[in-house]
Amino acid sequence: MKIAGSVALVTGANRGLGRAYARELASRGAAKVFAAARHPDQVTEPGVIPIALDITDPQWVGDVAAECADVSLLVNNAGVMRASTFIGAPSLDAARAEMETNYFGTLSMCRAFAPVLAANGGGAIVNMLSVGSFYTNPFTASYGASKAAAWSLTNGVRLELHHQGTLVVAVHASFIDTDMAALVDAPKVSPESVAKMAFDAVEAGQIEVLADERTRTIKASLSRDHELIYPPIQEFWDAAVQGSH
Ligand SMILES: NC(=O)c1ccc[n+]([C@@H]2O[C@H](COP(=O)([O-])OP(=O)(O)OC[C@H]3O[C@@H](n4cnc5c(N)ncnc54)[C@H](OP(=O)(O)O)[C@@H]3O)[C@@H](O)[C@H]2O)c1
Repeated sequence: MKIAGSVALVTGANRGLGRAYARELASRGAAKVFAAARHPDQVTEPGVIPIALDITDPQWVGDVAAECADVSLLVNNAGVMRASTFIGAPSLDAARAEMETNYFGTLSMCRAFAPVLAANGGGAIVNMLSVGSFYTNPFTASYGASKAAAWSLTNGVRLELHHQGTLVVAVHASFIDTDMAALVDAPKVSPESVAKMAFDAVEAGQIEVLADERTRTIKASLSRDHELIYPPIQEFWDAAVQGSH
């Protein structure tokens, strides 16, 4: 689909990657960009329309879908990462918060906007996933589980909406230079580069974006994950556990 002339809605558009998505849409000539945020007063990007939305509230999601009935491109970007382990975390709170936002919030958005997209010619959904959709890492364990669930959801929504002509794009990335990865000391890609790749994919009708070398390597290694992906993570984790004793 063409971005120019489309009507788009981006969740979590007040900062980080969401702001870059909104900016890129405006620069590609989208007719309207709804910049959804929990605190819309924090949306400072010129040329976009701030709109209040917490994606974990299905009623609110439904109201926004009714209000933004001209949307043809939905960008599910909002997400949380609580750096929580499966076993060592003090409670299930972080795991639940990540699942509520990254999986159930994204699912609510897809369900509410599916008929809107159908009414507007099919359009497209971009779901912001992660390299963590492909494997588990103890440092961000429950986040990875939520992104794996969101990857499964993305593949399923693509199958269910094929008949109405909706393109469903999965965007996977390793570290992106935003607040979420602020404490990470590793190579990061810019949010602008991820936004460009995502919308190039939308315009080309591609269903998957692997935004950096590490993400491409991990995806290519999945059939041999227990030889190639997990041993170095195990070594790193064991050293961290030993270091903490
Ligand atoms: N940064 C990375 O390394 C990286 C890598 C791969 C994938 N991702 C994914 O990229 C997406 C954007 O993350 P980011 O890097 O831009 O992180 P970020 O800087 O922490 O921004 C997260 C955004 O999501 C919003 N948000 C969180 N919970 C929400 C909710 N319940 N309803 C509505 N908005 C909510 C936040 O709003 P508030 O300002 O109100 O908190 C904020 O706008 C996420 O899905 C993340 O998982 C990030």
